[in-house]
Amino acid sequence: MLLLSAVPAPVPKGQVLLLPLLVLLGPQVSQGLVITPSEPEIVLNVSSTFVLTCSGPAPVMWKRMMPKQLPQELTETPDGNFSSVLTLTNVNGSDTGEYFCTYNDSHGLEDGEQKRLYIFVPDPNMGFLPVYPEEVFIFLTEVTEITIPCRVTDPQLVVTLHEKKVDVPLPFPYDHQRGFSGTFEDKTYVCKTIIGDKEVDSEAYYVYSLQGELPFWADAQQSIIHQHLNECSADRGPPG
Ligand SMILES: *[C@@H]1O[C@H](CO)[C@@H](O)[C@H](O)[C@H]1NC(C)=O
Ligand SMILES: *[C@@H]1O[C@H](CO)[C@@H](O)[C@H](O)[C@H]1NC(C)=O
Ligand SMILES: *[C@@H]1O[C@H](CO)[C@@H](O)[C@H](O)[C@H]1NC(C)=O
Ligand SMILES: *[C@@H]1O[C@H](CO)[C@@H](O)[C@H](O)[C@H]1NC(C)=O
Repeated sequence: MLLLSAVPAPVPKGQVLLLPLLVLLGPQVSQGLVITPSEPEIVLNVSSTFVLTCSGPAPVMWKRMMPKQLPQELTETPDGNFSSVLTLTNVNGSDTGEYFCTYNDSHGLEDGEQKRLYIFVPDPNMGFLPVYPEEVFIFLTEVTEITIPCRVTDPQLVVTLHEKKVDVPLPFPYDHQRGFSGTFEDKTYVCKTIIGDKEVDSEAYYVYSLQGELPFWADAQQSIIHQHLNECSADRGPPG
């Protein structure tokens, strides 16, 4: 976008050669956040150590959805830039996910800009990433595209989506960083993958369309969740 507006049409001959050079210089020219490594997706070996760096003209910080707090070190360089270093040590499957660098808002400076990077740590001991109970209930108030967020630690794995207790996979597109997206019916869904020669199932995901008036939604959600938690404990026998 920068290039399009910077290059007048018709393009004078001399500037044509300059274009590839400007593309290469792009990240340095920008005044905003710079992260290293700059690839959007990285695959790490279990037990390895990896360093992420983010710099910018104001205090910056690395964030994740969960856990929110990441131990990192912020330093100010002599040229007035700030740099935050996040060292991931002895990584395992649970380090898989999205990492963001943003400005630390508590300094009240430029907000909003963020750079992201997705890390995979293929871990044979962890098929699907753990999910939070809120994530397994997907409530809809209108027909809309949603994501069933079953994610694996290894981007090479083939993941399929099924209606619970049905073997035939459903034809929805899968994104290893997000899950299956599409318009789903009110059903229970399970994702499956094969690790080694073992089939691994994800948690079940419950999709519900909610009808009626807003004030009743919370109650409806509570009763649905309650009903399913009872079913689950019935499936698994009395809690140990
Ligand atoms: C991961 O381990 C394999 C061998 O087990 C090695 O070939 C590869 O270079 C390692 N990758 C990284 C990023 O360290
Ligand atoms: C660091 O500061 C220099 C100027 O001193 C600037 O050109 C550069 O873009 C800054 N780098 C980052 C990552 O903010
Ligand atoms: C963000 O800024 C606050 C206030 O200066 C500081 O206490 C906090 O440690 C900073 N967070 C990070 C992750 O650097
Ligand atoms: C995986 O790493 C996290 C810290 O990143 C740690 O809390 C957890 O115990 C590790 N899990 C295993 C199975 O080693």
